[in-house]
Amino acid sequence: MAHSTSSHVHTPRPGTADGGAQDPLAQMLDLDAVVFGPYLATVTDRLARLASDGVTRIVDLGAGTGTGTFALLERFPAARVTAVDSSPDMLARLAETARRRGLAERVHTLHADADEALTGLADTDLVWASASLHHLEDPAGALAAIRAALRPGGLLAVAEMDGVPRFLPHDAVPDRPGLEDRLRTALDELHAGAVPHLGADWGARLTEAGFTVEREHATDLELRAPLPEGAGRYAHLTLTRVRGALDGRIDPADLAALALLLDGGPLDVRHREDLLVRSGRELWLARRPVDGP
Ligand SMILES: C[S@@+](CC[C@H](N)C(=O)[O-])C[C@H]1O[C@@H](n2cnc3c(N)ncnc32)[C@H](O)[C@@H]1O
Repeated sequence: MAHSTSSHVHTPRPGTADGGAQDPLAQMLDLDAVVFGPYLATVTDRLARLASDGVTRIVDLGAGTGTGTFALLERFPAARVTAVDSSPDMLARLAETARRRGLAERVHTLHADADEALTGLADTDLVWASASLHHLEDPAGALAAIRAALRPGGLLAVAEMDGVPRFLPHDAVPDRPGLEDRLRTALDELHAGAVPHLGADWGARLTEAGFTVEREHATDLELRAPLPEGAGRYAHLTLTRVRGALDGRIDPADLAALALLLDGGPLDVRHREDLLVRSGRELWLARRPVDGP
């Protein structure tokens, strides 16, 4: 079985220890796509430039709520997307969004564990894997399956982020300077054991799997006021998940300081004027070679 998921903070899967966690995760994924909408548009532009010979069949692997699915449907108007996820809740939400936007005809959902097999997917022009490969137990096996699902010359886009986004200046909470740095360090330690493929060098892994890596981009995004609509809620959802993950793992004074950022009081991230959003994003664009197996 794959590891439990969030794009930024990893907590147990639905059906295991905290089955109610999926909805905040879904909201967080949707808000991430809104807050970083211009970045997502840049990424799909890059893809469109590489996919000069047309894209009609797309697979969104680990699709979540469909942030990639819908961005790609917009960028490639002739395409249909097969959205693959191991979470029926995510797929139901994605299918409902497709219906609401009048896109149901162009979206097919497939409930599958990418660690097991990707049967029924063939001749794909483009596979999109955003914040999903690091969740797998056997990414090498999945990359081989993706390669087989692509047509010769087809593209794979792997998008990852460098960890939990940051939202605060150094002295955001009086008497606890550097709080967010300490949270990030504790999360990195937690993830190093629980999510070993997070932060992997996907360029090297893609090459090992027989892909030709055509582009690699690392981007440090930093948004400042005026922030996009939803940035405060995005920060609140993210830091709420951070608090859940780090409860009992950090200095209680830091946990109490974190609570002050979430409790609706004067320091709450939903209405701070000094809120920022910083996030490191990485992108690998690779191709299944035209010649070869
Ligand atoms: C962090 S979310 C990313 C969602 C979306 N790609 C995005 O960028 O917004 C990771 C998604 O991968 C899915 N996932 C995790 N392990 C999986 C697996 N073994 N097979 C298929 N999907 C998986 C999760 O259910 C979740 O929806």
